[in-house]
Amino acid sequence: MADKYAEPLNDIDRYAVVGNPIAHSKSPQIHAAFAKQTNQDISYEAVLAPLGNFKHALQPLLDAGYRGINVTVPFKFEAYDICHHHSARAKSAGAVNTLSFKSGEIVGDNTDGAGLVNDIKNNLRHALEGAHILILGAGGAAQGVLLPLLNANPKSIVIANRTFEKAQQMVEKSGDSVIVSASTFEKLKNQWFDIVINATSTGLSDTALPIPDNIFAKNCLAYEMMYGRETPFMKQAKENGAQVADGLGMLVEQAAEAFYIWRGVRPQTAPVIAKLRNS
Ligand code: ATR
Repeated sequence: MADKYAEPLNDIDRYAVVGNPIAHSKSPQIHAAFAKQTNQDISYEAVLAPLGNFKHALQPLLDAGYRGINVTVPFKFEAYDICHHHSARAKSAGAVNTLSFKSGEIVGDNTDGAGLVNDIKNNLRHALEGAHILILGAGGAAQGVLLPLLNANPKSIVIANRTFEKAQQMVEKSGDSVIVSASTFEKLKNQWFDIVINATSTGLSDTALPIPDNIFAKNCLAYEMMYGRETPFMKQAKENGAQVADGLGMLVEQAAEAFYIWRGVRPQTAPVIAKLRNS
């Protein structure tokens, strides 16, 4: 790593999203819309990094005076390891998606959970306070959103996972075994929830989860963290009368939180979400 990162070569502050694959990332489009809306003079592009070599790929961006980057799959854990400082939510997630480069140091944050919380509260208008929440999955995506959900004061959070031990580990790590508990899918048979969040990767393979229909309470919000198509989880939730949302709102909201960290301005997200949905 360079001792002191270079100043930008011109007046435009440069940002990027780094991932692999990256060609279909919507982040450049989202940040361009935010910049236009808030009159911020920035550039933001997509950068492909070779697998297993995130640090190497980052160096040219540091040398060129970039102000920050977003990190996406599969580098969120590698990126965590190279940060000099971590926010509380990054520490809880054990992963980062937003890096800021300041005076030769890298500051890591994770805006995924805030993105989910803001989408549920502000766009979908569901209360998290006092809610019974079910998180399906105990991998990186689930871990990334647990602390911000817990901070929203729900009545309970149940984490159900195929590998029960991983759900148990998440409960232990959360430090709150009163609100947060672990479950198998089987044990959900007589339980219902106000909000059910699918944080498993099953949508990628169109696999249905072995979850009972009773988990969707009246007026339940079923939230699929992935976006782009209807997953078996979304189909099952819809058939059981739940309001169904995909992760497009979360994508835009996590970007807005990153934009705020970098620029100190909160962009409006609703028009950007609407534009992406229509495109
Ligand atoms: P991500 O970063 O997307 O969270 P991950 O850390 O590999 O990816 O986690 C994937 C999650 O999806 C895990 O909770 C995984 O369950 P296990 O911990 O038992 O592996 C869950 N998952 C993946 N495929 C699944 C399937 N077919 N049925 C149930 N759960 C599945």
